[in-house]
Amino acid sequence: MYIRYKNTVIKTAPSVYEPSEDSFLLAEAALAEIKGRERILEVGCGSGIISAVIKASTKAIVAGIDINPHAAACTRLNGVEAIIGDLLSCIKGKFDLIIFNPPYLPTLEGTKKDWIDVALDGGHDGREIIFRFLEEAGSRLAENGWILMVVSSLTGIEEVKSKMESMGYCVEGKGQERFMFEQLAVLSGTKMGRKV
Ligand SMILES: C[S@@+](CC[C@H](N)C(=O)[O-])C[C@H]1O[C@@H](n2cnc3c(N)ncnc32)[C@H](O)[C@@H]1O
Repeated sequence: MYIRYKNTVIKTAPSVYEPSEDSFLLAEAALAEIKGRERILEVGCGSGIISAVIKASTKAIVAGIDINPHAAACTRLNGVEAIIGDLLSCIKGKFDLIIFNPPYLPTLEGTKKDWIDVALDGGHDGREIIFRFLEEAGSRLAENGWILMVVSSLTGIEEVKSKMESMGYCVEGKGQERFMFEQLAVLSGTKMGRKV
């Protein structure tokens, strides 16, 4: 299946998260903030929609990583370099911006998972993958580097903000939208002493 978003036509694929409101909100926030040739990594790139739109609309250099091999392949089909990996564990370089639309839904443990569950399942409180990501991202940021991430009221936006602050991130809201049963917010974070 194909979807058109802004100036880009995106191929989607079975077993890969279908771009949704959270994808579009994060893409909008990223496009509003990218100024030049930033080195950008998209963690959990899925179909690659966000990275593909960034690539088509800015001068930034963007690449993706996803734990789902079908997602990494789909992102490459959409014209963006992508590798398979668990969060940032196999990433060696440093980035000006790391973006993530994470799995953030609170989910029962012990249920059998397919790749779509992996895209949605944030563990018992919805914050397990987010907190792991925050731990790993700090060391992969270049000087003045920052992160941009979507969170949901179902995950606990204030809880994520507090965790980021306790880890030394300076946090700002970069957009929000209310949907029928949840509020989505985009949070940016930079390590204290670095520019947001
Ligand atoms: C909500 S989807 C977002 C997909 C895409 N970025 C978008 O906005 O449409 C979350 C993505 O994170 C990936 N993911 C989940 N756990 C991951 C992990 N530990 N490491 C890397 N990617 C992961 C999923 O496979 C999925 O593609």
